[in-house]
Amino acid sequence: MALKITVIGTGYLGATHAAAMAELGFEVLGLDVVPEKIEMLKRGEVPMYEPGLEELLRKHVAGIEGSSGRLRFTMDWAEVGEFGDVHFVCVNTPQKHGEYACDMSYVDAAFESLAPHLHGPALVVGKSTVPVGSADRLAARLVELAPAGEDAELAWNPEFLREGFAVNDTLHPDRIVVGVRSERAEKLLREVYATPVTAGSPFVLTDFPTAELVKTSANSFLATKISFINAMAEVCEAADGDVVKLAEAIGHDERIGKKFLRAGIGFGGGCLPKDIRAFMARAGELGADQALTFLREIDSINMRQRGQMVELAREALGGGSFLGKRVAVLGAAFKPDSDDVRDSPALNVAGQIHLQGGQVTVYDPKGMANARRLFPTLAYADSAIEAVRGADVVLHLTEWREFRELDPAVLGEAVTTRLVLDGRNALDPEVWRRAGWTYRAMGRPTA
Ligand code: UDX
Repeated sequence: MALKITVIGTGYLGATHAAAMAELGFEVLGLDVVPEKIEMLKRGEVPMYEPGLEELLRKHVAGIEGSSGRLRFTMDWAEVGEFGDVHFVCVNTPQKHGEYACDMSYVDAAFESLAPHLHGPALVVGKSTVPVGSADRLAARLVELAPAGEDAELAWNPEFLREGFAVNDTLHPDRIVVGVRSERAEKLLREVYATPVTAGSPFVLTDFPTAELVKTSANSFLATKISFINAMAEVCEAADGDVVKLAEAIGHDERIGKKFLRAGIGFGGGCLPKDIRAFMARAGELGADQALTFLREIDSINMRQRGQMVELAREALGGGSFLGKRVAVLGAAFKPDSDDVRDSPALNVAGQIHLQGGQVTVYDPKGMANARRLFPTLAYADSAIEAVRGADVVLHLTEWREFRELDPAVLGEAVTTRLVLDGRNALDPEVWRRAGWTYRAMGRPTA
């Protein structure tokens, strides 16, 4: 009989994982503690913008016409405990308030709520990003709390999905990493992931601490790559070099690779910033803090980019104050194809200029509602052209395709001054300059 799967926590990770498991043919029950989320999901609606996710959900959510009916949602822990052979824990692990460390309260609460309902053999699989050592602790807690005792087992299976590509990354992962302690756990997870493994996804079997560390080290490496190229942008800026050419040239070396070398206002979002900080905090607890002191520098290079963008804008406007200056900001999401504004470099820059007296108007294709909630005092426009109307400077801060396809000639008619600052090195300087714009980007020659 096909395995029955539950997914606990239905945010980006959980909602996508639940839909993907149903797509792979399993019966799936998703749980969340937020009633509004569950109500939306039951109707086949997704609480965030993620390309392809709503379609996939609607294909499987029970009660939707023409669906497979394999995916259901509940708020009832007993039902989840009763239903599942394999339980995936997908709740979030934000940064603790006022500390670098990771807040484990949602993970802990999920285990405390689920375990008492495990009466028979069950595999609980952690997917949340956690400090190394958590799995060991949670495995013991599970045995302690579950009526099934030793039959309630833990595995750790980190998730590497990117927002904006969540569906594809989940259905066709570039690797599946599982930390297990028994053959039974390995066998169950091989069964869960049989389809992607057959299609070629590597299956990496490991112990608990390594599985946990794979996730945090992968994110640290990615953060390091971005901050590296941003550091090179700073040097290019000082030496009149061109960081985009530099990235292209070093990227031809296969050992370096072209990806994640886009210089600009840096990384944000719900993962990279908090994950590198939690990793530093955990290394400190383990007495290995020296090994990760470089991440402090990665973090500060990254945060510095935001300030430098503000300074570039100030300089471009003639130096001095932003008072009375009209600043158009294109982009609010932390990256394109997402409505996520958590720790968004774009909104951070917009906010800084606003707080210094600039009249900032923001437009983002999908992130408007979330941006408004986070920064209600900024002005918002319904389109790029409305945002730039009358602007003294245009800041391109999230590299949506929509912005690359803008016609600089048309935009030029709407602004006061044809001055564009590209915080993502994604616009074509030649095209903009030909249309009479002054184009500036960090780490690139002025003309
Ligand atoms: C990241 C990891 O990629 C993913 O594997 C993990 O599971 C979660 O964290 P995500 O947060 O969705 O995913 O975004 P990602 O695509 O990694 O981008 C992170 C940030 O880096 C964005 O703000 C993006 O704009 C920025 N970035 C990315 C750059 O500034 N330059 C680059 O070259 C690439």
